[in-house]
Amino acid sequence: MITPYESHHRAAVTDLLTRSLLEEDAVESAELVALLSGSAGFVATDGDAPDAEVVGVALASTGRKDPAVGHLDLLAVDPAFRRQGIARQLLGAVEDLLRSRGLSAVRVAGNPPTHAWPGVDVRYTPALCALGALGYAHDRTAWNMTAELVEGSPALRETRTAQERLARSHVVVRAATADDLPELRPMILAEWGPAWAAEVERAVGGAGGCHVALREGQPVAFAAWGGCRPSWFGPMGTLPAAAGLGIGGILLRRCLRDQAERGITRAQIGWVGPVPFYSGAAGAIVERVFFLFHKAL
Ligand SMILES: CC(C)(COP(=O)(O)OP(=O)(O)OC[C@H]1O[C@@H](n2cnc3c(N)ncnc32)[C@H](O)[C@@H]1OP(=O)(O)O)[C@@H](O)C(=O)NCCC(=O)NCCS
Repeated sequence: MITPYESHHRAAVTDLLTRSLLEEDAVESAELVALLSGSAGFVATDGDAPDAEVVGVALASTGRKDPAVGHLDLLAVDPAFRRQGIARQLLGAVEDLLRSRGLSAVRVAGNPPTHAWPGVDVRYTPALCALGALGYAHDRTAWNMTAELVEGSPALRETRTAQERLARSHVVVRAATADDLPELRPMILAEWGPAWAAEVERAVGGAGGCHVALREGQPVAFAAWGGCRPSWFGPMGTLPAAAGLGIGGILLRRCLRDQAERGITRAQIGWVGPVPFYSGAAGAIVERVFFLFHKAL
């Protein structure tokens, strides 16, 4: 049975994701469900009893950058219930919901600042097949980079020497707190837009962490982690006027050090971005590859 997703389904959906997703996503099931708490959609249950098991979920949201399109934020069916047409029904219901909002298309692509993935990891191959069968076209491709967070790895190289060099140029690097937001927020908004500002606010607000570089007391660069998912790094940005000083690499490694201290052994640098920079600054490799899809409604 297909019914609207409601907040009381969250625990059951968390369990469903834990048994349906790749290991690296499954371990963050609770965070993914919390992250997508503003999305709407449907669950599939095994029967219509009040305590029937949740065996499928599809969640969507209206585009934050382009409010004329919808985004599919999550789709999962219990491995024991696959190839029974459940994803087909869930997607049909989600498409009807988005049509009822007057939207003209649906994208299977991250809807910043609240996205669990940039698109569909290609290792979810049944999903690539299902989306193709259900009329979705693959358009763009995105990728993450993985940084190994083990002692001795380039990602955890010390930053002190480089920070001392920066200090001689009057640039101070430190962890950001909520007290930095009044100055950080307008800089990020003006240079990179509201999605990044929202992710940084969540990171500073306790979901993760953020490091800033200040010149004469004014922020000139930032890097954040955990704003969407604990193991994911980003966003980061350096104002053009402060580019070329090596600030980005320091802020990146300070964030990765935080993540290592949280017990994360492999950080995901999400939806990159300048591959040579992350390769050089943290020894990161391109690993997760995502296909993005769209369908006219
Ligand atoms: C992708 C997923 C949701 C599909 O759920 P499902 O309920 O098994 O899908 P359906 O039974 O509705 O399949 C619809 C169509 O998709 C295609 N399809 C689905 N799984 C397929 C597979 N393993 N191989 C080839 N085609 C497949 C078929 O055309 C199918 O129609 P058919 O059975 O009449 O041939 C499920 O495999 C899943 O949860 N995977 C892990 C999570 C995931 O990948 N989520 C998407 C990431 S955004």
